[in-house]
Amino acid sequence: MKLLREKIELEGIVLNENVLKVDAFINHQMDPVLMKEIGKEFAARFKTEKITKILTIESSGIAPAIMTGLELNVPVIFARKRKSLTLTTDLYTSTVYSFTKQESNEITVSKDYICEGDHVLIIDDFLANGQAAIGLAGIVEQAKAKVSGIGILIEKSFQPGANEIIAKGYRLESLARIESLKDGKVNFAPKRQI
Ligand code: G4P
Ligand code: NA
Ligand code: NA
Repeated sequence: MKLLREKIELEGIVLNENVLKVDAFINHQMDPVLMKEIGKEFAARFKTEKITKILTIESSGIAPAIMTGLELNVPVIFARKRKSLTLTTDLYTSTVYSFTKQESNEITVSKDYICEGDHVLIIDDFLANGQAAIGLAGIVEQAKAKVSGIGILIEKSFQPGANEIIAKGYRLESLARIESLKDGKVNFAPKRQI
């Protein structure tokens, strides 16, 4: 997606060879116009999948997920990283290990919101090691629903997540794919060959 690549080039900051800072438009300040376009782009890419729900994880996945849900006219659910005081119903849970933070998090979704027969589109901001996306897919499968696809804003193609998701047979759509972050520069990857 050209608009997102341009934004990354103009406002992204390469922190090191592994990390791109995008606090200016995704992770801290957010750009609603960009998010709206991202929602349209995901809606277009997944329009044939008969999506019934969108699933993301708090917090940075919520903005692009809600814009996609608005376009597709379906509910948006975010998995929680902390147990909610009022969430007393039965929960689906997955354990997500973050290589970046070297810690495991239990993520949860109420059984009320994903049901057998749902066609679920998973949305997240970054794809690095893929553990968040795979954990979300696990929750969808516990609910006997279908993972209709995984939509990512920024895929770091040099990290293992993308290949792992494709190897598991999920449809992956990444709006910007980064091949490397060498010498303080963002090098985008060419279109994926499938
Ligand atoms: P994984 O799910 O792909 O395995 O990712 P990992 O555990 O390595 O990522 C941990 C957190 O760091 C996630 O956010 C993820 O979005 C974010 N992240 C990973 N790589 C980058 C990067 O290059 N740049 C930025 N800005 N973020 C990155 P989180 O802690 O779950 O936080 P939230 O922002 O969604 O609240
Ligand atoms: Na995230
Ligand atoms: Na993040």
